Amino acid sequence: MKRMLSGIKPTGQLTLGNYIGALRNFVNYQDDYEMIVFIANLHCITEYQDPEDLRKNLTDAVALYLACGLDPNKATIFLQTDVHSHAELGYIMACNTYLGELNRMTQFKDKSQKGEKNMTAGLYTYPCLMAADILLYDANYVPVGEDQKQHVELTRDIAQRFNNKYGETFVIPEPLIAKVGARIMSLSDPSKKMSKSDETNKGCIYLLDDPKVARKKIMSAVTDSIGIIQLDKENQPGLYNLIEIASALSNRTMDDIVEQFKGEGYGKLKGYVADVVCEELEKIQSRYNEIMASHQIEEILLDGAKKASAIADKTLDEVKRKIGLEIKY
Ligand code: AMP
Ligand code: TRP
Repeated sequence: MKRMLSGIKPTGQLTLGNYIGALRNFVNYQDDYEMIVFIANLHCITEYQDPEDLRKNLTDAVALYLACGLDPNKATIFLQTDVHSHAELGYIMACNTYLGELNRMTQFKDKSQKGEKNMTAGLYTYPCLMAADILLYDANYVPVGEDQKQHVELTRDIAQRFNNKYGETFVIPEPLIAKVGARIMSLSDPSKKMSKSDETNKGCIYLLDDPKVARKKIMSAVTDSIGIIQLDKENQPGLYNLIEIASALSNRTMDDIVEQFKGEGYGKLKGYVADVVCEELEKIQSRYNEIMASHQIEEILLDGAKKASAIADKTLDEVKRKIGLEIKY
């Protein structure tokens, strides 16, 4: 069975973008692949997080993974800091990455070009830690949203370079990007990605949003003045995004949805999108409440970390041996 690995960084509450672009796919893949999924808590602290908020977001993220349908009997689910090899291999990866490569990473480049102050060294080297996350497990595939593709490509380059220098060690992973929903846009500004760090809070639907609030956000989503329901991503990005959301969640094609609402006003289509989204949120939230009440999270994470460590620690040992970091007695 091929192995698949992915992580989510719960810097805030998980969003509909995370669900459509990532989580939902993990659930679909767990029957056909050996699935390893973790909470990337080390990646969260590249920017300051209020410790209380962070703790709450981590717990919520695990509960939401489970509520979305990840099954701990099928997938290995764990917290990144519970498996110490991540940080250690992350450092080794940083020693095998060039500054030029990190300078080219768009997430870092965008932030520095915007003149963001107090950027940390952790933010800069974060792709090295992400490479370690993936390479520790010999993952064949990494399902992610579009924004993470560049990081997986860098991981491939680092792995190949390491293999060339030290001999065959790492499996070269492939990014897996879904055809629909790989980049869900903000409802209030469809030129931007739907993101946890949405300042206005109007463009982003959180998985724990009250469905009434989510409906309101969809009904007031920014569209255009063209007034025709069709698929024109360039000129009608807001409308396209709404149709893409509905398509991803209903497993209908985007064309099929356009066909149904052809000639109607945008309000009617938005109402349909809101119905589809709210139905999904209600399902997720009712399972989330059950999981939070059942107090099983700690045990699941403990078990997951044990299984993950068995794989990761072995890889790290091999890496250290190949580099010559160990003394032989
Ligand atoms: P992050 O929240 O940045 O840790 O992202 C976790 C996963 O969700 C990654 O695979 C991202 O690519 C994916 N993701 C985040 N935001 C979106 C979005 N707006 N549309 C699609 N996928 C997303
Ligand atoms: N960097 C990813 C994000 O921000 C999260 C992440 C960390 C990840 N390590 C990973 C995703 C390894 C896939 C594989 O979304």
